[in-house]
Amino acid sequence: MPTLHWLSRADDLKTAGQTEYKLLVENPAFGYGDKDSGNFLIQGDNLAALKSLLPFYAGQVKCVYIDPPYNTGSAFEHYDDNLEHAKWLALIYPRMELLRELLAEDGSIWISIDDDESHYLKIICDEIFGRNNFVNNVIWEKKFSPQNDAKWLSDNHDHILVYAKTKEIWRPNLLPRTEEMAARYTNWDNDPRGVWSSSDLTAQDPFEYGQYEITTPGGKTYLPGNNRHWIYAKEKFMQLQKDNRIWFGESGNNKPRLKKFLYEIQSGMVPLTLWKHTEVGHNQEAKKEINTLFGVTSAFDTPKPERLIQRILQLATKENDLVLDSFLGSGTTAAVAHKMGRKYIGIEIGEQAKTHCIPRLKKVIDGEQGGISRSVGWQGGGGFRFFTLGAPVFDENGRIHTDIIFDQLAARLSQNPDRRR
Ligand SMILES: C[S@@+](CC[C@H](N)C(=O)[O-])C[C@H]1O[C@@H](n2cnc3c(N)ncnc32)[C@H](O)[C@@H]1O
Repeated sequence: MPTLHWLSRADDLKTAGQTEYKLLVENPAFGYGDKDSGNFLIQGDNLAALKSLLPFYAGQVKCVYIDPPYNTGSAFEHYDDNLEHAKWLALIYPRMELLRELLAEDGSIWISIDDDESHYLKIICDEIFGRNNFVNNVIWEKKFSPQNDAKWLSDNHDHILVYAKTKEIWRPNLLPRTEEMAARYTNWDNDPRGVWSSSDLTAQDPFEYGQYEITTPGGKTYLPGNNRHWIYAKEKFMQLQKDNRIWFGESGNNKPRLKKFLYEIQSGMVPLTLWKHTEVGHNQEAKKEINTLFGVTSAFDTPKPERLIQRILQLATKENDLVLDSFLGSGTTAAVAHKMGRKYIGIEIGEQAKTHCIPRLKKVIDGEQGGISRSVGWQGGGGFRFFTLGAPVFDENGRIHTDIIFDQLAARLSQNPDRRR
């Protein structure tokens, strides 16, 4: 299989294996609400944090969402996005390896990225997750108006690369049907089976079984058309007509179409790969959400809108599933997971763990009504625990480090009741 090469690749392939397991040290003063909610916020480098989570959570995470620095070269206030290329790849590769180990067999990972790195990232992910586990490249319309000072094209989309741990097992949930979609169903002929919509009865290519003439109730005749065929053989078409499943228009003389009853179709919508800002929000919406929470001066520069993360969690999780975001930023994934009744682990290296994530989650627990709150009927509740990275668990000889007192180990072992699974 083709692989990507960069300066430090040989070393970077060893990084995850060589990273130390560290103690995760709880700081109860920074936690909030119900400590037994199963939600964790960790401040520290996600390389060490992910490694340290492995003994407890390997194979248990249903959905990973990450939004790593895009390596765009812009100077951001809250973190250094100006990693040169090899450094960016060195950051991503070992973390992807650890994230894969944390994923459940029926889990999936969703990675936000822009044009600059998306194709490099795809090759790395193909190597780590397996090309056969690549699900889709979602295109998110992050901006809705052109940037008039753009030198080349005005870039208004991001990519979200989606991989399943095991594609043959993983399936997305359907999306709730929108009112707009339901409104497309009507009942022109008062069919007792209820509302329906009609679809084309022809398809491309002149297959022989679908070449016959259809006569409408009004006496007009139709052939499927140039280089097309009726999708059903004549016998099946006659059965459908007898069952009043063919629609010839109100006049009874239109080209026939197939009636599809609302009660017969799936209870939700199959997700598309093009996500419009009207459905899942845009960058300005995300900024507005942050400004509402923190005020304009303390705002975080690169948040994602809550509706975008909601869409991902709708597709990839059910209530109580475990969600992980190891580039938590202002805490959007944790806030959305919390409001949607999912459990979560969020990891953030920067001070925004304290300046943004903690206060945001406290507000969520107290019942804030911004973002997706109203659409999910959020009323508050729950809680989270806060951790930082402590001493390495093992010394260079593989023995439990002498600095670690038994109490700390015991506390670590008892903090996650699920660990024995
Ligand atoms: C693009 S932002 C994520 C924004 C987030 N999706 C939101 O909605 O707020 C990327 C975040 O990853 C964090 N980060 C970068 N390197 C990290 C590392 N090694 N460990 C943990 N967090 C890291 C940065 O501090 C930054 O806050």
